[in-house]
Amino acid sequence: MPQPAYRRRRDLRSAVSPYLAAALVMALVAAVAVAAHALRGLAPAEGARAEAAAGASGGPAQWVAAWTSMPQLTEPANLPPPPFTRDDGVLHDATLRQTVRLTVPGDQVRFRFSNAFGGADLPITRAAVALPAGGRAGVDGIVPGSSRPLTFSGRPATTVPVGAQVVSDPVRLDVAPGANLTVTLYLADGQASTDVTSHPGSRTTSYLLAGDHTDAAALPGATTTDHWYFLSGIEAKAPARTRTAVVLGDSLSDGRGSTTNGNDRWPDLLFDRLRGDGAPPVAVVNQAAGGNRVLDDGLGPNALAHLDRDVLAVSGARWLLVFEGVNDIGTAPATPAAQRETGDELLAAYDQIVTRAHAQGIRVYGATLTPFGGSTPYDDPAGLREATRQRVNDWIRTSGRFDAVVDFDAATRDPAHPRALLPAVDTGDHLHLNPEGYALLARTVPLRLFR
Ligand SMILES: *[C@@H]1O[C@H](CO)[C@@H](O)[C@H](O)[C@H]1NC(C)=O
Repeated sequence: MPQPAYRRRRDLRSAVSPYLAAALVMALVAAVAVAAHALRGLAPAEGARAEAAAGASGGPAQWVAAWTSMPQLTEPANLPPPPFTRDDGVLHDATLRQTVRLTVPGDQVRFRFSNAFGGADLPITRAAVALPAGGRAGVDGIVPGSSRPLTFSGRPATTVPVGAQVVSDPVRLDVAPGANLTVTLYLADGQASTDVTSHPGSRTTSYLLAGDHTDAAALPGATTTDHWYFLSGIEAKAPARTRTAVVLGDSLSDGRGSTTNGNDRWPDLLFDRLRGDGAPPVAVVNQAAGGNRVLDDGLGPNALAHLDRDVLAVSGARWLLVFEGVNDIGTAPATPAAQRETGDELLAAYDQIVTRAHAQGIRVYGATLTPFGGSTPYDDPAGLREATRQRVNDWIRTSGRFDAVVDFDAATRDPAHPRALLPAVDTGDHLHLNPEGYALLARTVPLRLFR
């Protein structure tokens, strides 16, 4: 992660054989069956489903966060691509279609749209949720007929004030854990500012098209962009005892090095491990951002600043896993004084995070910082930043402040060169992990921490 460039402190031949024809017919039948199954997913929930959602324990279903993306002020390079950004704002008379992957089962869902960093009100003219074609993330197509309008306090349109967020009314929709959804917005008038709330590191393809195509089965000719805008959370009315685990972190959790539209960031892979073992469902939501720091603003507000909104106010939050600090160390000058001070401040900040989370009944787990030996510009010849990383990791392991410690450093370091990542997990920049590396992180987290 380079030094943030943008800061705001406040921050198919001729004849078709009969065999082939038969195969095509079978494929068509299969496709129709898949679509019919998907549509059942959109049928109004019945009493039996509501009971299932109430869970084996018999307790009432409750709203828990099933997906989040950390809201940020969009840097100029990550604004909607032309022609969707103008001098006077963004997304005028435009449709925005985005896909996300949910992590808990439920029979109702509702959606949060954020204008936390907007420079003007955010007027949403229409919004809808649909099932993505093939059930996949990052596609423009939806299952025909699956689109359902979203309403906001009963109305089809809403305006999100500057600095605020809006929560949609609940939509009856049976969602399976790991299901992908498509959320489409239409803004007739756009947002009258180039200060826009987004999550640039979506690793997921979104689609932009002029005009209102909210319910369109596909968006041919759309402009693609690998960012999410405005959509900051989805909640599911989940079985009783479902709780959410929140990840606080930087690009290593935001998935730099993971597969676009593949959902193989380490929190995604942790969720894959957690589901389906018969225990009460666990949602895993990701509140990480590339370049983010614990202490200072840069790419997104510092962790201490966004903790309230993005962690403590997350519905159903029960656990917090903190894996952040490498950008603080790496962007502080490589001088003994600056590194001492950064180390001191990081330890105090972790202590504060634990205190604030405990006050809300949230257990806090600390992850040790992974190696960056050989990375440019973080690694310095004198090893001052490595010394800070070691100091911070020692504290995370031994202070007793965290309710448990997850040793990502021990899992990923090269035994032959402990300052550096194992070559097999290194993307090549000696800082970020490849999908194998992210799978290794996910395997390092004991599942009992969420039981
Ligand atoms: C969600 O999308 C991802 C990425 O395309 C895919 O791997 C996954 O299987 C999808 N989930 C379901 C339940 O189909």
